[in-house]
Amino acid sequence: MTDIKQISHLVEDDFAKTNAVILDQLKSDVALVNQLGNYIVAAGGKRLRPLLVLMVANALDYKGTDHHKAAAIVEFIHTATLLHDDVVDESDRRRGKETANALFGNAASVLVGDFLYSRAFQMMVELDKMQVMRILADTTNQIAAGEVLQLMNCNDPDTSIDDYFKVIKNKTAILFAAACRLGAVLTDNEELETPLHEFGMHLGLAFQLMDDALDYSADSEELGKNVGDDLAEGKPTLPLIYAKQQTDEKGQKLITECIENGGLDHLEEIQNIIKETGAIEYTTTKAQSHANFAKSQLAKLPDNQFVTALAQLADLAVQRSH
Ligand code: IPE
Ligand code: IPE
Ligand code: MG
Ligand code: MG
Repeated sequence: MTDIKQISHLVEDDFAKTNAVILDQLKSDVALVNQLGNYIVAAGGKRLRPLLVLMVANALDYKGTDHHKAAAIVEFIHTATLLHDDVVDESDRRRGKETANALFGNAASVLVGDFLYSRAFQMMVELDKMQVMRILADTTNQIAAGEVLQLMNCNDPDTSIDDYFKVIKNKTAILFAAACRLGAVLTDNEELETPLHEFGMHLGLAFQLMDDALDYSADSEELGKNVGDDLAEGKPTLPLIYAKQQTDEKGQKLITECIENGGLDHLEEIQNIIKETGAIEYTTTKAQSHANFAKSQLAKLPDNQFVTALAQLADLAVQRSH
């Protein structure tokens, strides 16, 4: 199967230039910003969101260089959310390494996250395009709202599937939507902004659905994050909500208690209920239908290798194991 690395090959030169912008913009006079910033950036990550910006720009035959900066901005916003998210989720593994909060402490992670957000805004201003600023400002605000909404659902066993989708749309899918839409804005393809926004949104939903499935079903080593983080936090994600609906009374009672109290004491039992009720298959099927909808939005784009790659990325979001 084609993987993300093979797909990135298509935009290799742009990718290298974007990485150079990322490294350059991380620089600060403050040693801890450099140290922590480089730590999380050097840890890697899939760079999926910048890849989307570059792929769409190429699909629409963009000739300038602003897409490198736009792609770096999107990765900065993503990285800032990860620094904050790992503090909130009390996670200790990310990208196959200790999280920044585990290594440098919560205060340093929150503050360097703020540095990355504000650097992203400085870079947006340099792009000097009101529509780019509008999209990214709205997106950043909605991500923050999504994370707060999720915090409100935490430890609430009555969280519905609708509540869950509202959270994942805001905290994750909206940034994917913005990444794709930016390619249309940079190339002045106003009529393609909506289909590309929709493509990114549904790709992002598929991506987060699988992230939530993998949190129960993956191998921690391969995932680069701890399995069971969501249960530990009492986070009601789709696999757990669905399993609760499908299981017997005893199972329902256990899931309710686990959501209310968090912790990992019952991880194995919960994983068994998730398996028995087919909750991973259910979540994967939902993810695939969002990926399919995403692909359908590409019909208005020209027929070229970059658009084919975008469709492959939608399927990869579902087929991934990390
Ligand atoms: C992690 O995103 C946060 C989610 C939206 C699930 P990624 O899985 O894209 O993280 P990296 O950048 O590859 O580490
Ligand atoms: C994604 O949610 C977080 C953001 C998009 C900010 P998760 O909490 O599920 O992400 P991971 O699993 O920690 O990467
Ligand atoms: Mg998290
Ligand atoms: Mg997760």
